[in-house]
This record gives sequence, C-alpha cells and structure tokens, in this order.
Amino acid sequence: MTRPTAPVPGPGILDIAPYVGGESKVAGVERPIRLASNESALGPSPKAVAAYRALADDMHRYPDGSAAELREALGRYHGLDPERIVCGSGSDELIGMLLRAYAREGDEVLYSRHGFLMYPIGAKSVGATPVAVPERELTADVDGFLARVTERTRIVFVANPNNPTGTYLSADEMARLHAGLPKHVVLAIDAAYAEFVNRNDYEPGIGLVNRAENVVMLRTFSKVYALAGLRLGWAYCPPAIADVLNRIRGPFNVTAPALAAGVAAVEDVGALARARAHNDHWLPWLSERLAALRLELTPSVGNFVLPRFPDEPRRNADAAFDFLQSRGIITRKMGGYGLPQHLRITIGTGEEMEIVAAALAEFMAGA
Ligand SMILES: Cc1ncc(COP(=O)(O)O)c(C=O)c1O
Repeated sequence: MTRPTAPVPGPGILDIAPYVGGESKVAGVERPIRLASNESALGPSPKAVAAYRALADDMHRYPDGSAAELREALGRYHGLDPERIVCGSGSDELIGMLLRAYAREGDEVLYSRHGFLMYPIGAKSVGATPVAVPERELTADVDGFLARVTERTRIVFVANPNNPTGTYLSADEMARLHAGLPKHVVLAIDAAYAEFVNRNDYEPGIGLVNRAENVVMLRTFSKVYALAGLRLGWAYCPPAIADVLNRIRGPFNVTAPALAAGVAAVEDVGALARARAHNDHWLPWLSERLAALRLELTPSVGNFVLPRFPDEPRRNADAAFDFLQSRGIITRKMGGYGLPQHLRITIGTGEEMEIVAAALAEFMAGA
C-alpha cells in the first residue's frame, strides 16, 4: 500500500464548500444597513448587556461547564426539565454534535432542499451523505421526507420555520412526519425562529420531544434575543439524547459571558415582547411593499423575507443586490441555497425598512 505524502482529512471533508456568512461591510460606507444575517432589529436586552459586562473582571475563571443557571432559567420560562436541556456555542454547535453522535460514513442525513446549509455541511463533516428532499412551494414536504427514508437514514433535520424560505410546517404536519419515521431516526426540529411565529397551528417541537424518544428541538439566542455575537444555543432532548450530547460536548463549550447574558435575556420578557411586536409590524409592512412592486414572495413567518426577482438581466437578484449595496444596504444572495433569483432581506429597524423599500421601488422602476 502506498503511503499518502500529506495528511488526509476524513471522508467527505474535501467535498464541503465552506459556509459563507452574510457580508457586513460595504467599501466606503461607514455604517451600512445590515440585513444579511437575520440578526435582531432591536439589539440585545440592556439587562443581557449589563450581565455580560459584569463578567469582564472574571475572565480568568472557567465558566460553569454544566450551564446550570441558564438551563434552570430556560426550564422555568418554557416549563421544561432542565436536565433535558443541553447548551451549545450557538445552535450550530448542537447541529454538529448531533451529527457526530448519530451519523457516520455510509449514513444518510435528510434535509429540505432549501433548508439551512449547516445540515449538509455538518453531515459531510462526519462522512455522512446529505440527502436533499424536494420542497413544495418552498415548503418542507412531509411525504417527500418519508419517501426518502432508507435503511441508512440516521437524522432528519427540519428548520421550522425554515431559513431562508420563511415557511413552516404545522404541528400536525410535524407530528405526521415523526409518526412516519423509524424509531431509531433522530428528528431534529430546528426552531431558531420560533419566537417570531404568529400562527395558531405552529408548535416549536416541545410537545413532540416530550412524548418521543427520538425528537430534539434546537433553539438559539442569535435571533429574537439578539446575542448572535456571543454564540449561544440550546437543545431540548429526550434524556438518553441529552446524556449522549453531554458525553461528547466540550466541557466548557459555552463562555461565561454568554451564560450570564443568556440568563438575563430569558428573564427580560419585556425585551422579548418588544422584539416580537417589532417583527409583527414590520414583517407584514415590508412584505406588502415588496408585493406592491410585483416581487413574488412566499409568506414568511420569520424575521426575514425572500423576494424573487424577475429573470431580466437588469432586474434580477444580482442586479438588485448590487443596487442595494451601492446604497449601503447589505442583503443576502441565495445562490448557495439553490435560489439564485431570490434575495433574503432581514427585518431591520423601521427606518431601515423604509430605506430598503424605497430603494427597491427605485430599482424596480429602473432608476
Ligand atoms: C435555521 C437556523 N438554524 C441555526 C442557525 C444557527 O444559529 P446559531 O447562531 O445559534 O448557531 C441559524 C442561523 O442563521 C438558522 O437560520
């Protein structure tokens, strides 16, 4: 056998196209309008900022590796058993941990065709095969998922609501998906945008986790709680899965300032209500403005919209992106998600929404 002449990474790793985050800078613009990463419009709770600052002098101390206070705060707020909560450095880390624990080379990981990109990236990182399930009208398709389950399926990831499409599955549809899965397949419901959803038939996944051994709900502090820079997420799990994740996670995977800010954020229900109310106003406002410009929109229940631009070269998504960028407005191109005719635009402040709507009106008028 010939020996490799250089270190060789594990199977699948060189197939990964690295995740490209939203841009944050525009040349020559000091304070661009940043609508590319679904960060919260209003910024973090002042109480979370104060808790973060209060830890500055204790940076030489390790954090509480069990994240007990945060798990208890989450347990109180959501009515959950803290023992079944596992915290992570963003929900990205928890996605990676689930994959490391339950999938390996030869296994299949299902995700929705226009689902969050970290599912296929994470699957490849453990040598597993990501399987993209076609959608219906940019919405996860339960029957499509069930039709693609094989002997090799280990995890099914569903972002609910999904980024970047903004669409969601009802609690009944999610229950139907779960009912059709074999018991050894993990159903990971990624409810990163749950707090923004205003639909009677929606449920973030707690009910299913409570009654099944193979369902995990993922949540994040990066969106409605506006702590994306701190990296904080959590998983609500059946006891056996929590036990597995606790075995493989880094002993201090969440930083002390993130834990402190997270507790303060959970307890600041007023800030949460303000962030929700803001989205409740500006999401329909922006959606209506874009629809009036005859941009096609799938109804979004998150804190972002996904307009589809015309196919004409001067009005397409790339031209719109460049036009907005020239006005200091950063949106997100969607080619990486297989949606090259769309742009994703995050709900920002009211002033930012007025500016982006006016700029798009000008763009569509051909100014
Ligand atoms: C559906 C979904 N899941 C997870 C994440 C990652 O969140 P975090 O910042 O907690 O890693 C995002 C971020 O955009 C997301 O859209």
